[in-house]
Amino acid sequence: MRTSSLLLLAAMLSFSAVATGGEEPQQQPPAQPDMAAFARGAKAWADNCARCHNMRDPKDLSDDQWKVVTTHMRLRAGLDGREVRDITVFLQGSN
Ligand code: HEC
Repeated sequence: MRTSSLLLLAAMLSFSAVATGGEEPQQQPPAQPDMAAFARGAKAWADNCARCHNMRDPKDLSDDQWKVVTTHMRLRAGLDGREVRDITVFLQGSN
């Protein structure tokens, strides 16, 4: 009895770790910037983010501010999810 409820608890804990782990990475940059995403982001930024206004220096804004800006500018610029993630990695890795 005791052993089986412990096993059940362990199974539940590991299940919830997997369940929450799966959703997170979307907008969160890795601690070490992903260099491929960073390079794609630098190019997408250069290609897209000066069409309508001057470029803001990446150093002007914090990681959180860039996250808000790129989410907003995604709509303005008509970018897909990967482009905006790459641009966010680039900006957050350059400030
Ligand atoms: C289709 C035109 C367009 C494109 C493309 C565009 N923006 Fe913008 N951006 C705007 C407009 C219009 C505003 C004014 C604020 C608003 O939309 O609410 C703005 C505002 C901003 C601001 C805030 C104003 C400031 O200088 O502090 C930042 C930062 C910014 N854009 C960054 C970006 C980045 C990064 C990209 C590329 C992912 C981008 N923009 C692409 C039109 C655009």
